[in-house]
Amino acid sequence: MTDNNENSDVTPEEEGRVPKRVIGTPPSVGTQELLPREEPGEGGSGYVLDEKKARSAERVAAFFFTLTFLASIAFIFFYAVWPGHVGNIQRATRSNYTLGIALTLIFLGLAVGMTIWVRHLVTTKEIVQERHAISSTAEDREAFNEFFQKGAQESGLIQRKLLRRTLLLASAPLGLLPLVLLRDLGPLPEKKLRHTKWKSGTRLVVDGTGQPLKATDFNSPGGIITVVPEGAENNLDEIATSAVLLLNLPVDQLKIKKGRENWNVGGIVAYSKICTHVGCPAALYEQTTHHILCPCHQSTFDALDSAKVIFGPAARPLPQLPIGVDSEGYLIATSDFKEPVGPSFWERGRPKA
Ligand code: FES
Repeated sequence: MTDNNENSDVTPEEEGRVPKRVIGTPPSVGTQELLPREEPGEGGSGYVLDEKKARSAERVAAFFFTLTFLASIAFIFFYAVWPGHVGNIQRATRSNYTLGIALTLIFLGLAVGMTIWVRHLVTTKEIVQERHAISSTAEDREAFNEFFQKGAQESGLIQRKLLRRTLLLASAPLGLLPLVLLRDLGPLPEKKLRHTKWKSGTRLVVDGTGQPLKATDFNSPGGIITVVPEGAENNLDEIATSAVLLLNLPVDQLKIKKGRENWNVGGIVAYSKICTHVGCPAALYEQTTHHILCPCHQSTFDALDSAKVIFGPAARPLPQLPIGVDSEGYLIATSDFKEPVGPSFWERGRPKA
């Protein structure tokens, strides 16, 4: 590259303003040559390709482009034919892994293929671009300097040291604020959110009053109430993960999943109230259809069919809490939830250990 300084008689080199090597600029191309340089001579101003090596590089690049093609087909197939949002959480997890691997192969194949193409198959030719001087003229720099000094004097920052120093002091912590915000990214909840306050024998108490509930007290068909674990009525952190919707459904219409035969008490069922989409309280209930609705993004769950998703963006059913009655007739949990409650974030999306 050649600089023609047309605006000033003094060159940057003469002024001593040209650094030998600017931080962040790559070393000169001479140290990175990948292809043999053509001997200078008639028309010789670039690099020559060894046709044999070029053919083998072409084959390797073609292999990676073909890999990209196959991975794209696999991605479309798994997204359209085997979607993860249909079915249980294990399937959603497997689907996410499959799509992730396919996407990785797509980008990896493209990147590697293009890198081989550019580094081994593209000849280069040096091009000289004539450019005017980038620096301002000496007069312009002088004028700017005067203008800046005048502004600094008038602002009072130069004479008033106290003002200047306290301003610098006030500005210093601002640079650290983004670091403080980074704290919000972690730590990950890991296994903490896999468990709730529910365990075998915990009584279901009415949210707000703390009253334990007998099955006979909750006998109106179509009834719905929010319950929380006894002992956690005043602990908002516990309620945030343990709140449960208690519904009284017509037992003859219940579609009971295999293994859940003892999870209801005469049609009374309990589902997590935390929407599996992004965690809003799924608190609306349509008595005639027995649908539970989340007001945030309209996910709809079929209460008769294990709270299966029938509409909206939620990817899995509301987890069901197994319930029974104790010796005094009060409703109790017979265990914790069998799967994580709440949104299907990846760190809780695996089967419970
Ligand atoms: S949080 Fe419930 S649908 Fe989005």
